[in-house]
Amino acid sequence: MESQIDYHTARALLEWQVELGVTDAIGDAPVNRYDLPDKLRPAARQVVEPVAEAPAGPVAARQADPVAVARAAASAAQTLEALRDAMAAFEHCELKKGARNLVFSDGIPGAPVMIIGEAPGRDEDREGRPFVGRAGQLLDRMLSAVGMARQDNVYITNVLPWRPPQNREPHPDEIAMLKPFLDRHVALADPRVIVLMGNISCEAMLGRRGITRLRGNWHQALDKPVLPMFHPAYLLRQPAAKRQAWADLLELQAKLREDG
Ligand code: URA
Repeated sequence: MESQIDYHTARALLEWQVELGVTDAIGDAPVNRYDLPDKLRPAARQVVEPVAEAPAGPVAARQADPVAVARAAASAAQTLEALRDAMAAFEHCELKKGARNLVFSDGIPGAPVMIIGEAPGRDEDREGRPFVGRAGQLLDRMLSAVGMARQDNVYITNVLPWRPPQNREPHPDEIAMLKPFLDRHVALADPRVIVLMGNISCEAMLGRRGITRLRGNWHQALDKPVLPMFHPAYLLRQPAAKRQAWADLLELQAKLREDG
């Protein structure tokens, strides 16, 4: 059978599985065990394992509360460079093991607009920059339609700095673990307004999803005006929604003009 994925993707997937502890291949084709008749499914585990006492020493350090570790590391960072270094040194997120690069930001630090996307995809993981694939190219065209550009007056980051395997949705615990870094990122970049691209960034910054209702209206987060918009990847799939995205861009432009 001809492979559907390229060499680099296949290798990244394999390395990811090895990192997770996979030691043996038991078949050539994947099996969806949820589709198997009941009698073929392995019996559900009945035994609840006792919670181990946290040992002292370096092992204990590794078992520390990841959110608390992220919070301490983030708040110690006094510059964007220091924040990037702190994120690169953060060892509690499994996504890091499957990613090629930390994707920190692109654009102009201190720009009036900060865009927060979801997570790197394959192209971003390869390049180490956010929004460089098809969705990113559409984002650039959208911005340029209202006189904005990442080389000029926009700063861009993501909720997660590492690519989730196979571009799956970020899990709530991953978002929570990395949120202290995102909050600090906003504080250090200090934009006038924030644009949230899609549901994941709304979940991270506003604590709720529902982009269809949220988009186009101003909200408040971290003491900043926040505008949710449809994610450019969604617009690629649903071109009819570009009409609303255009309205949201005009709203953004009006807000920036109104505030001087
Ligand atoms: N989608 C995102 O949300 N972020 C990226 O960097 C790329 C695609």
